[in-house]
Amino acid sequence: MTKLRTERKLALPITTARLRLREFVLADFDAIHAYSSDPRVTKYLFFGPRDADGTADYLEGLLESQRELPRTRFELAVEEIASGRVIGACDLSVIERNVVDLGYMLGIADWGKGYATEIALALAEAAFHDLRAERIISTVDVNNQASIHVLEKVGMRWEAVFRKHRRAKNRWWDCHFFVLPREVWELAKERLDAEQG
Ligand SMILES: CC(C)(COP(=O)(O)OP(=O)(O)OC[C@H]1O[C@@H](n2cnc3c(N)ncnc32)[C@H](O)[C@@H]1OP(=O)(O)O)[C@@H](O)C(=O)NCCC(=O)NCCS
Repeated sequence: MTKLRTERKLALPITTARLRLREFVLADFDAIHAYSSDPRVTKYLFFGPRDADGTADYLEGLLESQRELPRTRFELAVEEIASGRVIGACDLSVIERNVVDLGYMLGIADWGKGYATEIALALAEAAFHDLRAERIISTVDVNNQASIHVLEKVGMRWEAVFRKHRRAKNRWWDCHFFVLPREVWELAKERLDAEQG
């Protein structure tokens, strides 16, 4: 049977040099709770820090989202291959036709190792290839320097600043809006291939 043009399937797990991005399972509860209950991790996230009930609700919701058809939310565990530890989460969400939102978070012990950059590059490849995205977008709090730097490192372009983008955790959030259009990604890849001969 011919495949529907709208069918979108993310090939999982996604494997990078050091990480495996895979579906979450119930047994990941403790690992998820460890980073999402940490206020340093959730400082620039609209949610959290979560208590145990909050983590349980979140995990239940994301396990349900794995069964959605068509699936629009791909929230994945970030597993360090060498240790087998779940060190964070990342996600691709189809927010409208051919537009995919990208995000990531890691436990603080694993910051500064280049992992978020590795994750974002792999997610971008998967979004353009598997989900047939035309644009990848990401919004980030204007003060979240580490994340802004990751988005820039993977070639995302600053497009706008949204003043009072959202109200969460008793404050208004000013956010930068970053975009990676497919043609920019393809050009960057061509250039890289040429450089590598
Ligand atoms: C954002 C986050 C995922 C980055 O993870 P990471 O694995 O440390 O990121 P990387 O190591 O790939 O890259 C971070 C870059 O930002 C730089 N950086 C880190 N903190 C910085 C700061 N305060 N100011 C400027 N640059 C900073 C690092 O030096 C690095 O750049 P370099 O490779 O040129 O040295 C991590 O800090 C995190 O989980 N934060 C909490 C959740 C979050 O904010 N998620 C993003 C929501 S949009």
